[in-house]
Amino acid sequence: PTPCIGSRYLSSQPTNQRIPSFAFAFDIDGVLLRSSNPIPGASESLTYLQKHKIPFILLTNGGGKTESKRVNDINHKLSLPDNSKIDVSQIIQSHTPISEFATTHGVPSYKHSTVLVVGGDHDKCRQVAEMYGFTNVVTPGDIFAAYPDVWPFSSNFTDYYSQFARPLPRPINPEDPENSLKIDAIFVFNDPRDWALDIQLLLDIMLSREGIVGTYSSKNGNKELENCGYQSDGQPPLYYSNPDLLWASAYPLSRLGQGGFREALDGVWKAVTKSACGKEIDMKKTLMGKPHQSTYEYAEKVLVRHREQGWGKDVLESTPLKRVYMIGDNPESDIMGANNYKSRVGAEWMSVLTKTGVFRAREGEKPAIEPKVIVDNVREGVKWALNQSG
Ligand code: G3P
Ligand code: MG
Repeated sequence: PTPCIGSRYLSSQPTNQRIPSFAFAFDIDGVLLRSSNPIPGASESLTYLQKHKIPFILLTNGGGKTESKRVNDINHKLSLPDNSKIDVSQIIQSHTPISEFATTHGVPSYKHSTVLVVGGDHDKCRQVAEMYGFTNVVTPGDIFAAYPDVWPFSSNFTDYYSQFARPLPRPINPEDPENSLKIDAIFVFNDPRDWALDIQLLLDIMLSREGIVGTYSSKNGNKELENCGYQSDGQPPLYYSNPDLLWASAYPLSRLGQGGFREALDGVWKAVTKSACGKEIDMKKTLMGKPHQSTYEYAEKVLVRHREQGWGKDVLESTPLKRVYMIGDNPESDIMGANNYKSRVGAEWMSVLTKTGVFRAREGEKPAIEPKVIVDNVREGVKWALNQSG
């Protein structure tokens, strides 16, 4: 039988188990799973760490369902034994940090604002947003169901949208802007399924006056203004939860992710604004998710809290967290994020790149972003890290 991944680590441990000063952060797609298919060694690795109380979190740019549903999925797909199942306190999805915008102390708070939540299957992302505390969530399906002409080519999906669309909080009535549907913020929670409808609606809103759907800002195309007046007429902020251009699904080749949708909308935006202004205008937006510092800060907070659950409230003081091994498959998100992250607790984040996802070590290919180490799979990554920490 293959030796236990932590035999050298275990042999270096005193009998009274020492509190580990290191922890792990695992990416999901391309490291633990390929869609629903477990990657060899994933279950064994997580089971070992849970058994030896070595703290870890799952840090994914994926999402589209509640954290508890995602954790149940993963426990099932990896067939984790009862005493090693992952807890909801251990997962950060692409939109998990967006929950802070739904609290009253969030900066800024959109708890009671009208927010457009984009992406995902059926109504799941609205359910996630409402679970976070957003009280006024609109989806592109709601707008299409109420005004099918808003995008003439989604009529084939009318039945799909009618399954979950809700009446709009206000009609689209540009003649009466005070009482017309106004979007205060846009959050892309997960990969859009109907790119065409979603691109058309986001373009409408980003060109509108103050987010009032159906209006066109009088400033847009105003050549005297620095950016031709675009995005200077109260348009709502646009937040993307996941920057991934590509991701590792069940298909052998990487697939376009939420970053693909973002680039498509950017292309349409540039063409439309250029025709009215004579120059390309970059669309104002906020990117969240790996590799961005804000997401890693949020993840580290979750990891520190989870570590306290296992080892007691004062563990950070008694045994500071010195190192976090980030095991990922995507150099542009997992590896870049860990390499660049400035820890809030003085931990060193070390990037470990696997060959089971987006990065394929074609003959001698080196990743554009250099990890600390390249390993065949998650099992080898955990083994390497344990040997570093023994
Ligand atoms: O949509 C999910 C994809 O963008 C990547 O997910 O788990 O590899 O960060 P993950
Ligand atoms: Mg991945």
